[in-house]
Order: sequence, then C-alpha cells, then structure tokens
Amino acid sequence: MEQTILQINSLSKNYGSVKALSDFSCKIEAGKTYGILGPNGSGKTTTLGIVLGVINASEGNYSWFGGSTLNKNKHRIGALLETPNFYPYLSAYKNLDVVAAIKQITNPKIDEVLDFVGLEKWKNAAFKSFSLGMKQRLAIASTLIADPEVLILDEPTNGLDPEGIADVRKLITAIGQKGKTIILASHLIDEVEKVCTDVIILKSGKTIESGSIYEVLKGDDTIEIAADDLNSLSNILKSISIIKSFKKVNDKISVSLNKGNTAAELNKAIFEKGIVLSHLFVKKKKLEEQFLELIK
Ligand SMILES: Nc1ncnc2c1ncn2[C@@H]1O[C@H](COP(=O)(O)OP(=O)(O)O)[C@@H](O)[C@H]1O
Ligand SMILES: [Mg+2]
Repeated sequence: MEQTILQINSLSKNYGSVKALSDFSCKIEAGKTYGILGPNGSGKTTTLGIVLGVINASEGNYSWFGGSTLNKNKHRIGALLETPNFYPYLSAYKNLDVVAAIKQITNPKIDEVLDFVGLEKWKNAAFKSFSLGMKQRLAIASTLIADPEVLILDEPTNGLDPEGIADVRKLITAIGQKGKTIILASHLIDEVEKVCTDVIILKSGKTIESGSIYEVLKGDDTIEIAADDLNSLSNILKSISIIKSFKKVNDKISVSLNKGNTAAELNKAIFEKGIVLSHLFVKKKKLEEQFLELIK
C-alpha cells in the first residue's frame, strides 16, 4: 500500500523581493528515495527548512504522516541540514553518546549504527582525526540513532573527496534499501540518478519536472494526449497494440509506445476507434546534457 509520508501543498517563500520558492507541491511516499535536484539558489534548502519547521513559509502548507503536525512526529524524522558540531577531542562513540543524550534516546544502538556507517573500527578514534567523508558518515550516523522512518539530507556529499562521495552515496543507498524514506537535496544530477528512485527538479523556486528517475531521466519519449471524454479515451487505449503503457496525469494521459512506433500512428489508431484528440504533445526524453545545461 502506498503511504504518504509528507504532503506539500503550494508552498511559497519570499525573502523580501526574492521568491525562493513558488507554489511548490509534492507528495512523498513511504520507502522511496527522493532527489530534489536543482542548481544553487533554486530553493532546495528553503523547502527542506520549511518542512522541518525551521523556516516559516509565506504561503501554502504541508502535513506529515497523513495529517499530523511536525512536532508530534519529530522523532520519526532524521535530518541533516548542515554539518552538526561534534566535539573534536571526543571519539566517534562518545560523540554519538552525547547526541543520544541530547535527543533523550534510551538504549541507543550506537555500536550498531557505527557498524552500519562503516565506522565501527574507528569508534574510539577522536573525531578530529577523521577524514571529511568519515565525519559526514558520523553525521549521518547521528541522525540514525533515533531510528527515524524518514531521513532528510541537504547536499550530503558537498566538499567531500571522490572516495568520501562514493562512501556516502553507498551509505544513503543502503539506508534506502532498509526501507527508509529519504529526501535528498542535491545540485548533482549523477548523484540523484545513482541514489534516488524519484526526482523533483527545481529551478528558481519552481518545479519543472518530477517523477520516477526512469520516467524523468532515463525513460523513453512519452506522448501526452487528451480528449473531451478522457474516460472513453482511456478505455480504447487498452486495445491499441502499439502502446507499451499509459497513465492518467491530471487532465491528460501520458503514453509510452513500443519501440519504433510514432505519435502519428498513435493519433491514427485513436481516430480509427472513433475518438478525436484535443491535445497531443511529444515529450522528448531528457538527455543528461540537457539537464546539465538546465541546472548550470
Ligand atoms: N535567509 C535568507 N535571506 C534572503 N534570501 C535567502 C535566504 N535564504 C535563501 N535565500 C535566497 O533564496 C533562494 C533559494 O535559496 P536556497 O533555498 O538556499 O536554494 P538552494 O538550497 O537550492 O541552493 C536563493 O535566491 C537565496 O539567495
Ligand atoms: Mg541549499
């Protein structure tokens, strides 16, 4: 069953005349890893800050876990918006012990979490001796000790060396595989593609595209169609053999065709079944280069 973790409705945020976010809506479902992808200044951190209650929205609202407030659910959400302050001279273990005490977690599974993030061997080493990648893995560990259902990460690989980046990405993937819901903000398309199941692309505070990674970044061309009677249209699509799959998206239907078939053939087949389309639009597969251009 699909379970909605977070529903965001038409959020906007203005800083004076700067529109950091405008009319942003999305639904976060349980067990998926979402990438909020966009260039610097596109509103990613603002979005995460709002749903975590540290930034007030100018307009719109959001609800966690099917309608309840953030405060009731704080223990179910782990977040890493900025690098937490650890004590440089304390060990990894001691630092997590401090975090657990602050969060009032009884019987924290510190060893288990250190093992999961790959720091068990260094549990008694001072934080200051860690590489940036290890520090970030400890930061992620600190969000996991309360065993949250949802993890929110803002640019988790920023500033890391390639090895640190690979380790952190592997770790995020492993967390997702444990069934946790993850919301990750990133300006890196390859990061989102590697780690996430779903993507929401932001530009200048607006959503320009969203869907599964496959649909948005790797999928085939899709054809958007509509007719006056959408139900009849949807019914006849089932009997058209050149269609691979289709789904209703708002007041339109998004169609994928079998390899080699064209939008013109689709139009003809639908017409032959007695329906005249009021809308037909071919959405080209987004190539990685186009996205890189877009999010520059
Ligand atoms: N506290 C603030 N005061 C004024 N402008 C801000 C503030 N925080 C963010 N902004 C602006 O809001 C926009 C979105 O910022 P942000 O959410 O941090 O984007 P991102 O995380 O995608 O880089 C940017 O234009 C940024 O300069
Ligand atoms: Mg940011």
